[in-house]
Amino acid sequence: MKHYTSGLRCGQLPSLTRTRRTHKVGLMQSDVNAIKKQFHEIFGADAGERTRVIRAPGRVNLIGEHTDYNDGFVLPMAIEPEVRMVCRARSDGQIRLASTVYPKELLEFSIQKKIERGSPSWGNYSRGVAAEFLAAGIPLVGMDALVANTLPVGGGLSSSAAIEVATALCLLTLTGEKIDPTRLALLCQKAEHEYAGVPCGIMDQTIVSSARAGHAMLLDCRDNTKTYVKLNPIELRVVIVNSMVSHELTGGEFAQRRRQCEQAVKLFKQDDSGVRALRDVTMEQVEAMRPRMSDLIYRRARHAVGESLRTTEAAKALAAQRYERVGELMAQSHESLRDDYEVSCAELDYLSAEAMRVKGVYGARMTGGGFGGCIVALVQPRAVEPLTQHLHGTYTAKFGLQPNVFVTTATAGANVLE
Ligand code: GLA
Repeated sequence: MKHYTSGLRCGQLPSLTRTRRTHKVGLMQSDVNAIKKQFHEIFGADAGERTRVIRAPGRVNLIGEHTDYNDGFVLPMAIEPEVRMVCRARSDGQIRLASTVYPKELLEFSIQKKIERGSPSWGNYSRGVAAEFLAAGIPLVGMDALVANTLPVGGGLSSSAAIEVATALCLLTLTGEKIDPTRLALLCQKAEHEYAGVPCGIMDQTIVSSARAGHAMLLDCRDNTKTYVKLNPIELRVVIVNSMVSHELTGGEFAQRRRQCEQAVKLFKQDDSGVRALRDVTMEQVEAMRPRMSDLIYRRARHAVGESLRTTEAAKALAAQRYERVGELMAQSHESLRDDYEVSCAELDYLSAEAMRVKGVYGARMTGGGFGGCIVALVQPRAVEPLTQHLHGTYTAKFGLQPNVFVTTATAGANVLE
């Protein structure tokens, strides 16, 4: 399911292209003061309890799409657009949430009763995190919190995981509890499964909580091993292009892809009971199984197995600064997502193909769950401006939509600002 958006549905991304912002611009103190001011206008002045400020970045996945729930590899990094949450403890066990994206809505629930999914639905990510913390026996306090956002909702840059991780960090900061980042990511993933109805993998919550500035992360989604890959800030730019077609992962397609992968696993299990996920299968095994599979399941398996191999190779090539090879692998990834996994759309196909035509672009591909959202391109610094201009001209002429093109550096994972 996709929606055409005339503009971003949330706090607009700063127009990074126009200002040609190519280096990390940290969160200004004035920005923090502005959201604290808004918080105090909504929830009243501090009287005893201290107001805290948390940030959780969005993410872009360089390669390794739809591999995380197959126990495979992914190569994401955290990006500058982010979720910021201002919070303050309450002693009555109530959690009250406001959002700058939905300014008219205030939602409230109690941590002393069973926490149910409800409306407005943007609150379900936070409801889910509070509920999973309680179920895991992690002590909670009530809180007032304001969610502010420079991440496009439905843009495929993981605003949902950022809200989940930010909520988790608010709750931990207010109680003084500590949990390790892998457990935190797993609890947030469970919250998304149970409360947002999206059977996502572990990539988004892991990168949002454990990213390292200046690095991408090769994540082994089976055992959560993280290998950080340094990105050369002189030679490389990461450009994100929002198609302005927003995606909806609750629409059923995502869950269907997961089920199709599980169907493939069942077949491989018949021959080898040691196969737990497509991670355990080689390309040769996929080909050998082809006559016994429907064409659809064959293509799904070929994507998941091939993509994971491309991802480990891309991580090595990136570390060795062999950017042309990384670019080739990104292009192959896009083709596989388009033809075998069928999660792309006309807008993302067009943007990726047009991006690849610009000199100095190593590679471009759709990023995230698909069906809309963004592409990511790995480019030489000198290619940023021509790429931006080319996509603005051609994409708008073809689809009547203004793409949002911006450069981002790799930021650190979620943290407490104040
Ligand atoms: C969404 C999910 C992730 C991952 C990607 C596809 O972002 O949340 O877990 O499956 O899609 O790679």
